[in-house]
Amino acid sequence: MVPTIKWQGSQVWMIDQRRLPSKVQWYVCSSCSDVIRAIRTMVIRGAPAIGIAAAMGLALGARAIRARSYETFRAQFLKLAEKMSQARPTAVNLVWAVERMKAMVESLADSPVEQIKEALRLESQRILDEDIECNRRIGRFGEALVPKKATILTHCNAGALATGGYGTALGVIRAAHEKGKKIEVMADETRPWLQGLRLTSFELMEDKIPVTVIVDNAAGSLMRQGRIDLVITGADRIAANGDVANKIGTYQVAVLAKANGIPFYVAAPTSTIDLSLRSGDEIPVEHRPAEEIYRIGRRLFGPRGVKAINPVFDITPSKYVTAIITEKGVVRPPFRRNLAKLF
Ligand code: MRU
Repeated sequence: MVPTIKWQGSQVWMIDQRRLPSKVQWYVCSSCSDVIRAIRTMVIRGAPAIGIAAAMGLALGARAIRARSYETFRAQFLKLAEKMSQARPTAVNLVWAVERMKAMVESLADSPVEQIKEALRLESQRILDEDIECNRRIGRFGEALVPKKATILTHCNAGALATGGYGTALGVIRAAHEKGKKIEVMADETRPWLQGLRLTSFELMEDKIPVTVIVDNAAGSLMRQGRIDLVITGADRIAANGDVANKIGTYQVAVLAKANGIPFYVAAPTSTIDLSLRSGDEIPVEHRPAEEIYRIGRRLFGPRGVKAINPVFDITPSKYVTAIITEKGVVRPPFRRNLAKLF
């Protein structure tokens, strides 16, 4: 698998996920605003990947600041950080990474500006490296929950492309496959951006893990027929009580899993957990342009002027979540108490 995002000299290169799977093409960012645009326009997406991109974008931005004094540098850096924080609202990994970069600046108040710039670049690379390591740990913990032979349903793309590499939900699937378990994946296509069809199936096929794509509406019926053994998804933000924000459609998958007695697991690094929010009701849900629903490429699929709304995430109440798989271990209910213990 090609890396999702990397430093290439003094630029940040990311795979343009809007073009996958037909084209594997790099999108080159030379400035902080290039990265903000890339996040907003879905060149790069997926909670941990957005966080890594934000960190690298800030390192690019820092390099362009022409300031000699620490105070001037810091003031300009904080402005960039504020702009970056607003690139997309739901995935808390973005703000988490921005805060980590800010903390680095604060910790180097006595250092020359040029040294701080280099420290920021190194910190962004560290965030990327740590994310891959986190995902491997999530994989190891999660794999233990997967039977020797299982059909796993997943929604959206929580794979290598949504992270620094290896993936969260797909990390668990990869780890189970690497262990020699007989895994089959059912991938929800995930309207309207089709992350399941375009990205999840692409990644799994590259790794030779059997995958079948289904339309989102087929998940319930397959569960009722006994064709799904467990569900694993990623998350964009997890509130203190274990409520999970993830790609729109996750909520109905979780409810259907419960109704059919199927375990519903969420795989996510602790950087996705936001203990400052008491419940999922406080998580901001991004709404994207309605056009994304009725237009595919240049072609209009609905009547001109049709009304549509496009919330791109939903909240799954924690009562539908069997366990949350993190890099620090598997967390089970009561989530408020057990998630707090991780920190
Ligand atoms: O709109 P996207 O593609 O950024 O949404 C991505 C998801 O909802 C993923 O499931 C989530 O970020 C977890 S990625 C490890």
